Parts: sequence; structure tokens; C-alpha cells
Amino acid sequence: MDTGHGKFSAVVLAAGKSTRFKSKSGLSKIFHPLAGIPMVEYVLRVLQRVCPEEIVVVLNPENKDEFLRFYGDLYKVAVQDPPLGTGDALATALPHLGAEVQYALVLSADTPLVTEKALHDVLESASGGDGAVLTFQPEEPRGYGRILRDDEGHFVSQIVEESELDEATKGIKECNSGIYAFELRWLPEVIERARTEFGTKNKKGEYFLTDVARFLRLIPCFYEPAVDLLGINDRAQLNEAENIIQKRIISAHAREGVSFIRAETTYIEADVRIGPDTTIFPGCILRGDTSIGENCEIGPMTYLEDCRIGANSIILYSHLVQVHTEEGVKIGPFANLRPGTVLGEGVKVGDFVEIKNSRIGARSKVPHLSYVGDAEVGSEVNIGAGTITCNYDGFSKYKTVIEDGVFIGSNNTLVAPVRIGKGAYTAAGSTINKDVPQDALAIGRASQENKDGYARKLRERKKAKTEQRKVDAEGS
Ligand code: UD1
Ligand code: CA
Repeated sequence: MDTGHGKFSAVVLAAGKSTRFKSKSGLSKIFHPLAGIPMVEYVLRVLQRVCPEEIVVVLNPENKDEFLRFYGDLYKVAVQDPPLGTGDALATALPHLGAEVQYALVLSADTPLVTEKALHDVLESASGGDGAVLTFQPEEPRGYGRILRDDEGHFVSQIVEESELDEATKGIKECNSGIYAFELRWLPEVIERARTEFGTKNKKGEYFLTDVARFLRLIPCFYEPAVDLLGINDRAQLNEAENIIQKRIISAHAREGVSFIRAETTYIEADVRIGPDTTIFPGCILRGDTSIGENCEIGPMTYLEDCRIGANSIILYSHLVQVHTEEGVKIGPFANLRPGTVLGEGVKVGDFVEIKNSRIGARSKVPHLSYVGDAEVGSEVNIGAGTITCNYDGFSKYKTVIEDGVFIGSNNTLVAPVRIGKGAYTAAGSTINKDVPQDALAIGRASQENKDGYARKLRERKKAKTEQRKVDAEGS
């Protein structure tokens, strides 16, 4: 995009060693999730919205492969080996930038809350000098470089890193966000100059990008609110960012017509979609690629991961993963719906029901205490309480087919593979291990025998025995 001040490319610095994350697994901090998506993704998404000519991501040899697995060739990648500091990181990116661009918009992968407006601001300020840096005043300045302005206050004379602060500089409140728009023309020369004049002569032993501020007329572009520029160096800051992102996500849904009851108890990942007039009750966890239709009631205490929920549905106290439903379903309380569950319009799934890899046709009901696995259930079927599909013999899985309009009595075991024909009935307590023809009644249980007077005789015998025992005990 042309900002009105020339074309620009973007550089994302992401090659740091993430030491302050203290990860034993070695997971690079750029992949730590915020609202379910990797931290680096936030920066990449906001960059796409400001339309740079290209995006170059600086990675290290350890996080490069993971990045490529995730993003393929969507972005240009520069590998900094070994990572020697932010100055060295930008130097690594420079040869990858197209010759025709005028500015480099530089930002860190660990500043995920940055907004489009902040990026426009710094780009617009850049033409007033040799570039611009976004500055801000965080509540807690610890960890950030401090901005020293020249006497008139127009330019940045120096950026002093936290490790290099002294008596004179430690009171400065204006901080460096690590987001810059540099005029490209001067950049190779000043990076080299900073390298030769200052090198790694600082307490961290790194090439500081901030040292280039000494050789450029850099405009300080002060930005508010400060939270948008929060840098994530450790997991306390990651947690802080998560809280801010949750508030942003929930406000965005609320503005689009979603109601929340005690929203602060609910967690919603970045890509979840929710239709208007839906109410989210307390304690919900909505994850991944989930979409919820209009006018639903979700929760309390409901977990949805990668689900499609049709409009006008009600789900309470339930756990659903990779479930698709048509409109008007009612699920729970306490249902466990596993991957591959597909529910037709108006289906009811009640309490203590587990379903996996099964299709349940329109208006069918599985109201209580059932396990339905690998089943194809037609429409208008009623499955009685306590019904179990026996789909597994320890080696393979088998299919149960229940055709339209079937009535399965309570406490049935359906031994797969088995087919219950359209409109058939099965008697309560049946074990069904043979196909049932259409409209038949299947009774698969031992027939009942009544023994007249047996219970009374049993009681008398027991009573006589107890009395005899008492007499024996007194005599001994
Ligand atoms: C940096 C700035 C500091 C600023 C702060 C804003 C420097 C020297 N300091 O400090 O003035 O206030 O950001 O959040 O620039 N990286 C590389 N290669 C490296 C080292 C780091 O690509 O060799 C990347 C990191 O992955 C990270 C970014 O550069 O995304 C910033 O590095 P980090 O170590 O987090 O710098 P800060 O100490 O936060
Ligand atoms: Ca940082």
C-alpha cells in the first residue's frame, strides 16, 4: 500500500530465544496461544490489514520449521543464525526487502495487541524525519527502552535500554514500543554504524536496534492507549494480554448482538462466530473453529470445540467436540458429544448421553443415559433410556442403523452390526443382535415367570432361622 508517503514493506522480528518464557519444551514464544491462536498470528493479521508490499518474518533456526509448517510460503522468511539482538535481526531482513519500497515498518512478534491505527500513525509520522518510532507510557515501564528526546522534543536523541538505565534516565516514563517506520534509504548504513560504534557493548551483549536512534532523525509518535503496545516477554504478561484479548472478543460479539450473562466467566477463542440474539450463560468455553447460529442459548457451563450449532438451539452443561447440528436442537444437561456427531433439525439429546461418529435424523430423541456410537439414526426415532449401541468387539467398530420412526424401548443393547427397520419397536430390556424387519416388534429378553406365594414362604423361612439362632445363643 501507498501510505501517502511511499510504499512500505513490513518486517516482523521473531527470532528471539524466548528465555523469559522458561519453557522446558522449548516452544518459541511466538507460538504460545492467545485466545487459541499463536501470538505471532495477531501481528500478521493486523499487518495484512495495513497492506504492506510484503511481510518478512525474521526467525531463528529453532522456530523456523514450526513457522513454515504452519504458514507454508505465505510470508518471506529470513533466518537469523545465531540471534544476536534486534539490530542484527533487522540487518538479516534487509536483503529480503524489495528495492522499490521506501519504508520498512518494523515490529516485534511479541506485541500482539497492536492495532491498525497504531501502525497507520507511525507510518504517517515517518515522513517528518528519517523515520518514526511509536512511543507510549505503560503503567509499568520496567523492561522497556526509554525515549530521550532532543531539546525541542521533536526527535528522539537516544533510546536507553532498561539494562543501561542510570540515575539521569531511570525516571523517564516515555517508552519504546519496538514499532518503527524507517526510511529504508538510510537503514543499512545506520545499522552498520551502530554495529561498529556500539557493537554488543551493553549488559545484554546484544546488537541493539535501538542504537540506530542516535544516528537518525527519528520522530517520536506518542500513542494511547498504552495497553495496545504491551510487549510479552514472560507468561505474566501473556496472561495480562489474554485478559485484554478476551475483553476485546466479548465486546466485539456483544456489539454484534450477542448477550452475555457474567461474561467474565466465559472464554472465547479468536475465530469463534456467534449469531445475533444468542445468549451465552456463565462458564462457557468456546474454542477453535466454532460457529453458533442466531437465537441460541448456550450454557451455563458448556464446552464447544470446532462445532457448528444451528440457530434456535439450546445447550446446557455439556461437552461437544466436532459436532454439527441443524436448527432447533436441545442438548443436555450433561451430554458428551464427541467428534463426528451430526444432529438433524429439532433433535433432543438429554442428560448423561454420549454420542460419537453418528448421525441422528430430524426430530429424533435420545433423552436419557445412552451411548450411541457409529450409528445412523433416522428421523422421528425415540431411543429409550439406558440404550447402548455395542459397536466394538475389542478389534473393530461396527455400525448400527436405526431407520425412521423406530421406537427403541428402555435399556436395550443393540449389538452391531445391526439394522432396525423403519417403524419397528423393540421391547424394553432387549438385547438386539439380529436385524429387525420394518414395522416388527422385537423382543430380545428371557420371558418372565411368576411363582405364586414364593416371597411369603421365603420370608417365613428366614424369620424362623433368625429366631432359632437367638435361642441357640441364649443356651450357650
Ligand atoms: C525491545 C526493545 C525495547 C522496547 C521493547 C518493546 C531492543 C534492544 N529493545 O526490548 O527498547 O521497549 O522491545 O517491547 O530492541 N528478536 C530477534 N532476534 C534477536 C533478538 C530479538 O528477532 O536476536 C526479536 C524477538 O523475537 C522479539 C523482538 O525481537 O519479538 C524484541 O526482542 P526482545 O528480546 O523481546 O526485546 P525487549 O527486551 O522486549
Ligand atoms: Ca519484547
